[in-house]
Amino acid sequence: MSLAVFDRRSKSLDYSRLETLFCIGGYQRRLPVSIARMIENAYDWEHLPYIHESSFNAISLLDEGDWGWRAIVTLPDSSSQHLELLVDKSRNYWATTVLSGDAKGFEIHTWASQVSSREIDVSIKFYLPKRFSKVLLVLQLSKALMPFFLYEKVAQKLGVHRVSKVDKPQQSILSSLHHQYSVLYDEDEALMSGRQAAIDNLKRRKFEPPIESLSLGSIDHVINELPKVVQFGKHRYVLNRWQDKWLVYNAVCPHRLGPLEASEIDHQGRVTCPWHGYQFDVETGKSCGKGIADLPNAPLVSIVENEIFLEAR
Ligand code: FES
Ligand SMILES: [Fe+2]
Repeated sequence: MSLAVFDRRSKSLDYSRLETLFCIGGYQRRLPVSIARMIENAYDWEHLPYIHESSFNAISLLDEGDWGWRAIVTLPDSSSQHLELLVDKSRNYWATTVLSGDAKGFEIHTWASQVSSREIDVSIKFYLPKRFSKVLLVLQLSKALMPFFLYEKVAQKLGVHRVSKVDKPQQSILSSLHHQYSVLYDEDEALMSGRQAAIDNLKRRKFEPPIESLSLGSIDHVINELPKVVQFGKHRYVLNRWQDKWLVYNAVCPHRLGPLEASEIDHQGRVTCPWHGYQFDVETGKSCGKGIADLPNAPLVSIVENEIFLEAR
């Protein structure tokens, strides 16, 4: 795909441009997370196809920096879009622009404000090029004059893909966006809350004294609880079975603390982190991607008279 769409584009937000855009509406949401988690989530392009599977199939990064990122995304219908995110950290403000494909010219502007240290409000505004207000007006006027299937076709030709029989075109688009963004933010909320819990757990356990040995109970009992997450000293591990072997591996992904216990072990003996898709060989702890840290050494499993133990190395 050509990258010419990024030519002559600034890497900083130009707020005066808002006057040239048409705001189709907005979406508000209170989230139980800190501003830091939210801004981190905006910069985190890698989570899109993993956390937002129903909206994105794949992402290929072109460029990134403190200013934001540029990427090509593949959508569930296999079409592609050039996407650009620009971040203004000083204002907790970021804007995503669709530069090609379906919804070309669409901009999503988001502003986060702190309610308390672990609670924020996000205000999202959906913008289109100004000429779009006229397109919607034409559609609205023509709606009563034609059968619905024709109206839908005309709407699609004009670049409006979401219309309903009862609502005005603008309301149709907005209600569809509300639905999509409530799903996206449900998914992001789970990711951000999970990451915060993992950070808090690390801090809480920082001074935990080392342990030599920990009994997990009888094999018959433990086998029904697999994969079993166990706190062993400072760290959390997963106890699991694969190809008739007991395995112990870190429950916390070294990338951004994602929950490795959430992944099944695949036929190659790998787990895939659900947050960004990094894979690890659970027998060796080796990372299967370039530039990603291996899993740290895990304790050993020992069995004494039908009782299962974790032992420090
Ligand atoms: S947290 Fe990113 S891949 Fe695990
Ligand atoms: Fe997200």
